[in-house]
Amino acid sequence: MSVEPFAAVDVIAAKRDHQLLTDAQIDWVVDAYTRGVVADEQMSALAMAILLNGMTRAEIARWTQAMINSGERMSWSRLSRPTADKHSTGGVGDKITLPLAPLVAACGVAVPQLSGRGLGHTGGTLDKMEAIAGWRAALSNEQMFAVLESTGAVICAAGSGLAPADKKLYALRDVTGTVPAIPLIASSIMSKKIAEGTGALVLDVKTGNGAFMSEPDRARELARTMVDLGQAAGVRTVALVTAMDVPLGRTAGNALEVREAVEVLSGGGPADVVELTVLLAEEMLTLAGTRTKHPADALRDGSALEVWKRMVRAQGGDPDAPLPVAGHQHHVIAERSGVLTHLHAMGIGVAAWRLGAGRARQGEPVQAGAGVEWFVQPGDLVVEGQTLMTLHTDTPERIPLALQALDGAYGIGTAAHARLPLIVDRIS
Ligand code: URA
Repeated sequence: MSVEPFAAVDVIAAKRDHQLLTDAQIDWVVDAYTRGVVADEQMSALAMAILLNGMTRAEIARWTQAMINSGERMSWSRLSRPTADKHSTGGVGDKITLPLAPLVAACGVAVPQLSGRGLGHTGGTLDKMEAIAGWRAALSNEQMFAVLESTGAVICAAGSGLAPADKKLYALRDVTGTVPAIPLIASSIMSKKIAEGTGALVLDVKTGNGAFMSEPDRARELARTMVDLGQAAGVRTVALVTAMDVPLGRTAGNALEVREAVEVLSGGGPADVVELTVLLAEEMLTLAGTRTKHPADALRDGSALEVWKRMVRAQGGDPDAPLPVAGHQHHVIAERSGVLTHLHAMGIGVAAWRLGAGRARQGEPVQAGAGVEWFVQPGDLVVEGQTLMTLHTDTPERIPLALQALDGAYGIGTAAHARLPLIVDRIS
């Protein structure tokens, strides 16, 4: 039997007592947790000590590297073009990955977009894509490579071999109140992105009531930490800190968001989704160091839509099939005339989730057609009797719970509340 070089309790006590963890302690505790030698209750205590007492940049960098080392590292060097990837820390109505990946591909840069599923009030890219008839998220590494080489973009599930330490730790953090710790979020996201092997990475760090980091300064700190980790690992990395006080676009829900993404790819769609998609595309192309056309042109001339269709077909999907529609609709009506004062991302996200668009536990199915569609923005004049929102669900018994979530999430008054600019900051 091999002898372990440390005892978990000593590592926990060190962080509890504000000591720096050594490189050897970090390497061991991450590896031993992945092997099952460090128990869940011990890692929970360590995660809480990290949340309360923090980590230095050097500790975070070592922790990230240890998580990368727990699994495989992918490489796209066989591809005929450079790669760029984007990661969002998660928001309501955030369907940007869907139009962005084919758009950047249409401009000459390959996009390997390894994505996840939603949990809680934020939606997951794979859940959205699965609203498309026949589309498959699970691909082998060879299939991923083939889709990427032939279409220029792939959106698929991250395989189990990528940063397995993070998979285990993230599930544990989710049930122990230790998700919102900057060292743990930064190392979780960046270990996966670095292991994925992209050459360039643009981070979209959300801030506002619908984001992990509701305070812009905390979002900036998270962005700075992740950009430094990426650059230190040789990945050209930039972060935009963007607004998530108001939900993005006009829809939150899987099929509803695919519809909106296709509108953007067809040259239309809501202005905020178009603006953020084009801006992120420009950042990705700049980091990758090449561009065959401007992203706004690729939306106008149909080339981004063409890549989308090829990408969906390459994974078994039918891009022309009608999208699922929920069996029941409920309209939310303005009870008086005035100005829409606010529309909180968090309230809309929780309502969409309760209608069946999201899941409360990992592994639960989601409803493809469920979600919220809103027709007004803060500052708009509304008239008594006007439809403000439509709630979509296959299970109408969920509607009262969704309406509860919307209580206070919007208001009608005389003037709009202050809101964040769409782009709060850029960190490079
Ligand atoms: N997304 C991740 O992948 N990890 C986190 O810790 C938070 C968001």
